[in-house]
Amino acid sequence: MTLWYLARAAGVVTMVMFTLSAVLGMVMPNVRRPERRFWLQYVHRSAAVTGLVLLTTHVVAVIADSYVAISPTVLVRPFASGYRPFAMVVGVLALYSLVLASLVGASRGRLASSATFTKYWRKLHIAASVGWLLAVGHSLLAGTDRSTPWMLAITISCLAAVATAGVYRLNAAPKLTRAWRTQ
Ligand code: HEM
Repeated sequence: MTLWYLARAAGVVTMVMFTLSAVLGMVMPNVRRPERRFWLQYVHRSAAVTGLVLLTTHVVAVIADSYVAISPTVLVRPFASGYRPFAMVVGVLALYSLVLASLVGASRGRLASSATFTKYWRKLHIAASVGWLLAVGHSLLAGTDRSTPWMLAITISCLAAVATAGVYRLNAAPKLTRAWRTQ
């Protein structure tokens, strides 16, 4: 059962890490002090990288574990999974979206000179938000612990954190734009 517990624990911490990254990504554009922005950017990226490492652990442990039969083909044919196929489809789509968002994010510095990339990078980075939403959906559909009080508390906290960051971003953006204009 060790691998099964590892898989589930890694899944939970993956969701928390991507939530932290999402929250920081949402508040970052409203932060004006360069030093503060630098640290927020650093933690935003580190949380995403930690999330990817834990996501790999989650998927490898779920496949390697013998408690439920999940084969590596789940990554290309999740709907054919014998274990909670709908939840697997949602989880695999979350994985693809978050990997795409991470690749786009990682290429940003290197492709900064490309006008086309700069134009489309924000749109491509929306994959991170889609991936986060799918990840939360997957954990609500797949998890053994989904209805335990502690897991519900974690899921609700993740949803509340992203919702609060979204409201903060929407409210702060016009005020900041006005403040910049008057300087
Ligand atoms: C960003 C993507 C993902 C995140 C954040 C994530 C997170 C989670 C979470 C939080 C749980 C609940 C654990 C629990 O209740 O203790 C879970 C369960 C599970 N996940 Fe994922 N997961 C992701 C992708 C995947 C993928 C791609 C697979 C396919 C291999 C997968 C397979 C599973 C399985 C089989 C369970 C069920 C465990 C159980 O019944 O308790 N997950 N995942």
